[in-house]
Amino acid sequence: YNRRSFIETASLFAAGFYVMPLFSSCKMDTSSAHPNVGTTINSDFNADVDIQLKAVQSSTTILSVKNTDTYSYKGSLIKGVKQTLQQLEGSALGPIIRVKKGDRVRIRFENEISEKSIIHWHGLHVSHENDGHPEHVIDKGETYIYEFEVMNRAGTYWFHPHPHGHTGEQVYKGLAGLFIVTDEEEKALNLPTGDYDIPVVIQDRTFDESNQLLYLPNGRMDQMQGFLGNRILINGKVDNTLSLNKDGKYRLRLLNGSNSRAYKLAWNTKEPITVFGVDGGLLESPKKLPYLLLGPAQRVDVWLDLSKKSENEELKLIHLPIPLDNMMSGGMMGGGMMGNKSDNSLPYNSQFDIININVGASRKNDAQLPERLSVSQALDPADAENRNSPRTFNFAMEGMMKWTINGRTYNGMEVTEDEIVKLNTTEVWRINNGGNISTKNQKDGRGMMGNNRGMMGNGSGMGNMMQMPHPVHIHQLQFNIINRNHENVDQNLWNAVKDGFIDEGRQDSVYLLPGMYMDLVMRFEDFKGLFLYHCHNLEHEDMGMMRNFKIE
Ligand code: C2O
Ligand code: CU
Ligand code: CU
Repeated sequence: YNRRSFIETASLFAAGFYVMPLFSSCKMDTSSAHPNVGTTINSDFNADVDIQLKAVQSSTTILSVKNTDTYSYKGSLIKGVKQTLQQLEGSALGPIIRVKKGDRVRIRFENEISEKSIIHWHGLHVSHENDGHPEHVIDKGETYIYEFEVMNRAGTYWFHPHPHGHTGEQVYKGLAGLFIVTDEEEKALNLPTGDYDIPVVIQDRTFDESNQLLYLPNGRMDQMQGFLGNRILINGKVDNTLSLNKDGKYRLRLLNGSNSRAYKLAWNTKEPITVFGVDGGLLESPKKLPYLLLGPAQRVDVWLDLSKKSENEELKLIHLPIPLDNMMSGGMMGGGMMGNKSDNSLPYNSQFDIININVGASRKNDAQLPERLSVSQALDPADAENRNSPRTFNFAMEGMMKWTINGRTYNGMEVTEDEIVKLNTTEVWRINNGGNISTKNQKDGRGMMGNNRGMMGNGSGMGNMMQMPHPVHIHQLQFNIINRNHENVDQNLWNAVKDGFIDEGRQDSVYLLPGMYMDLVMRFEDFKGLFLYHCHNLEHEDMGMMRNFKIE
């Protein structure tokens, strides 16, 4: 596409839309009644793990002197072994919940913040009632009971709030934790454990002069692009130093817990990054990459062997430049009338530190990384009836600056015909960010809904030019990637990131560049009901780039 006219037209529209009062109000669906689920403890549910988890308003020492107002999940263990629950000290984030596959888990979520909330278990294969649907939000003072069996294989899952319209801000203030699953397959491998198994949650934040978190200072303009902060926090702290032992072998569990920012991660030493796990658990075998592209909500396991390092050697995980700013604050949203990057967020196209590793005195552990980690978890696309006509979802801008999926936005429990799938079937979904223009002409009704809506419609004019990356996430299942098409991706951008994708293993979140489409194969099993699929740029999600699909 033509970048220049794209920016100019975008600025014109920015000017136009800014005076429209219609857009200043946040749309919150309160129409559907709170169903009577999750309110009582089922005494027949024999819990192995029972946790009380409160969302509270807290005050955390993040910067020096003055505390920052935050939200936190505070856990207390009612039943389970001690290692089940670990609160992160001096951080608003957490806790880390550690369970085994097959465990029966009860979580008593108590909402003590003065707004509606609900917890979603990101990546877990659970029923609709346990999934944290926005329509299940509870008020301050209320409790929601989750009771589920852990059916997922070993891996790094996580949890965060999911109230429609407010997920971004609640996560931003500190509500997020890890849900780590182990299983027999993983235990047999002798991977690093204990102090050598290190969770690393990466987030960007901006603080004002009185150390308070600044969120979307330019209002709707910032929301359109998604929050981008001016500094990096690791596990909720500004001190990004990990003190590790020389000769240690480590498992770093990276989670990009940022609202909208993606990272291009690499070692400062230029040695390759060894990845051995993704969202849905271990890969078949480890993979070496020159760098790694980690979109919002994605997790990876990174192997770190410090036996060839010397004490006090400088080792850093850094972000390498990505030419994305033109499409983000500096271009699409910030160009023209908005001026240039008024928000002083970290530019994508710059290098900055993510983790600083302090190599300390030698202390060996006997862990190792086998060449063979797991049997293939790949679903066979040949089992999908719609193999040759994938169910297509277009993530795009529609109408007056609205982020949509197939031309629609979130509307409570609403689900439409093209969002209904059958239990015990396998399907291919094509998620499209302006990459697959031809699907718009499909006649099967599953294609482009917003076609031919005039100038703002997708595929022509503005709609097609207003493109941003969309980190797409599907609830309740782990899919396999069968195709990543980049024909329509800007060449510069593609060349800068193309070696950083991991398209193997089971995943629940993918990073779709502008002009890209991907084919995913997935299976609907065990649970009927409504589940969400959405953009995990939390600001896009809050604006309605989220829909239900129904398994029946
Ligand atoms: Cu992590 Cu529906 O999201
Ligand atoms: Cu999720
Ligand atoms: Cu998006």
